[in-house]
Amino acid sequence: MDGLSSCSPVGLSSPGTDLWRGVEHPVSDAVSVGRCTVVVGGQWGDEGKGKIVDVLAREADLIARFQGGANAGHTVHVGEEEFIFHLIPSGILHPGKRCLMGNGVVLDPVQFFKEYDSAEARGIDLEGRVGVSLRTHLLLPYHRLLDQAREGSSAKKIGTTGRGIGPAYEDKVGRRGIRVVDLNHEGRARSLLEEGLARTRRHLAELGHTNLEGAEGWVEETLALRERLLALATDVGLEIHRALKAGKVVLLEGAQGAALDVDHGTYPYVTSSNTTAGGASTGSGIGPTAITDILGVMKAYITRVGEGPLPTAFSPEMDEKVRTLGAEFGATTGRPRRCGWFDGVLARYSARVNGLTGLAITKLDVLDTLPELSIATAYRTPEGVVDEFPADTGSLGDVQPILETLPGWQASTEDVRKLDDLPHNARAYLERLEEITGIPIEMVSVGTRRSQIIRVT
Ligand code: IMP
Repeated sequence: MDGLSSCSPVGLSSPGTDLWRGVEHPVSDAVSVGRCTVVVGGQWGDEGKGKIVDVLAREADLIARFQGGANAGHTVHVGEEEFIFHLIPSGILHPGKRCLMGNGVVLDPVQFFKEYDSAEARGIDLEGRVGVSLRTHLLLPYHRLLDQAREGSSAKKIGTTGRGIGPAYEDKVGRRGIRVVDLNHEGRARSLLEEGLARTRRHLAELGHTNLEGAEGWVEETLALRERLLALATDVGLEIHRALKAGKVVLLEGAQGAALDVDHGTYPYVTSSNTTAGGASTGSGIGPTAITDILGVMKAYITRVGEGPLPTAFSPEMDEKVRTLGAEFGATTGRPRRCGWFDGVLARYSARVNGLTGLAITKLDVLDTLPELSIATAYRTPEGVVDEFPADTGSLGDVQPILETLPGWQASTEDVRKLDDLPHNARAYLERLEEITGIPIEMVSVGTRRSQIIRVT
């Protein structure tokens, strides 16, 4: 009879063989052997994830988005050309790579095909390369309208991108959303769309909006894209799972950043999805154990667009200066970003909630001319000094950052490609960021071009 002694000691068995009993069984279907790297924003978004994903995509076989929607704006420079993607993964610029939209994304089909067609018009061959999860929820024109109407009428603005993100996720968790798979059934899709439209009319009427121009056409416009979208539909989780089992390299591309996560960010001044690494698993359909690395992208300073506190905000004069140096205007809305010093408190929090294994520091070159730099290491609050990121967003507006000052390097880093070639003070600054976060830096970006990157590992 089997007693305690028949249990296989942890660590002795290799996958597929139960050494203790000498019995062989098939390798578990859950075992992955490929590499799966998640790339997430570590701050308030706009950290330059698009460029990092573009660089890493060269070595990947498959790239997938797992949350957010067309609120994201991923900018990639190739030669003299600039590409801004809102929905399609930034990996698309590498010929032959498969690019997928996970179930965690809210997909605006009109915006998606606009981007798709414009990429093709610029010579990017997308044939057989793009897939959309059957489980992905659709973001429809009425979501956008509701988002904009709410922002316009509310005294407590979130400062959203106006792309309909909140209302689309509300429909998803309210269990009344429309998924790509529903498009297989025209009747079902039509009635879900009509119900959504009627519901939105009621909500808009409450906000004083009675004129929904063009609304009658939305149902037909969406249904007209049915065949096109279904032709790209796939089981994203299964594709990724199979790729990993075959030893392939997968990149999961996040949008926004940790401080905008609906659970872990500065609520309510957040987006409506899980931007942190946990969302990469639920939003793509693979188990968390399939993830091998989590790369956090952080700017060498900090920016924020939209409402909500920014504890390390610069003085107005410095804000203007760094915004100009770093071209800090939103890729989606063109709004000016608020700028500030690197926030070590947020960075450590972000490292913890994401489980980061590596850091990519971007836009180091933007700081090249500054005589000295500061980093926040803690916050002074009315109750005392804290070094953990507070849950109470209201209190974050009152904190004073405790700043540590380091000398600047006042030399150009734009042409540096090796860590050792950076000015001494720039290396010291990066070392301090590593110390504060406890996470090794793997990449440093020193300009917008693909080549302007220092690979540390
Ligand atoms: P929403 O995602 O459009 O609902 O906007 C909610 C908040 O997230 C607002 O503060 C936006 O400015 C911010 N946000 C959304 N997407 C991005 C992004 O890609 N970069 C930076 N901020 C973003």
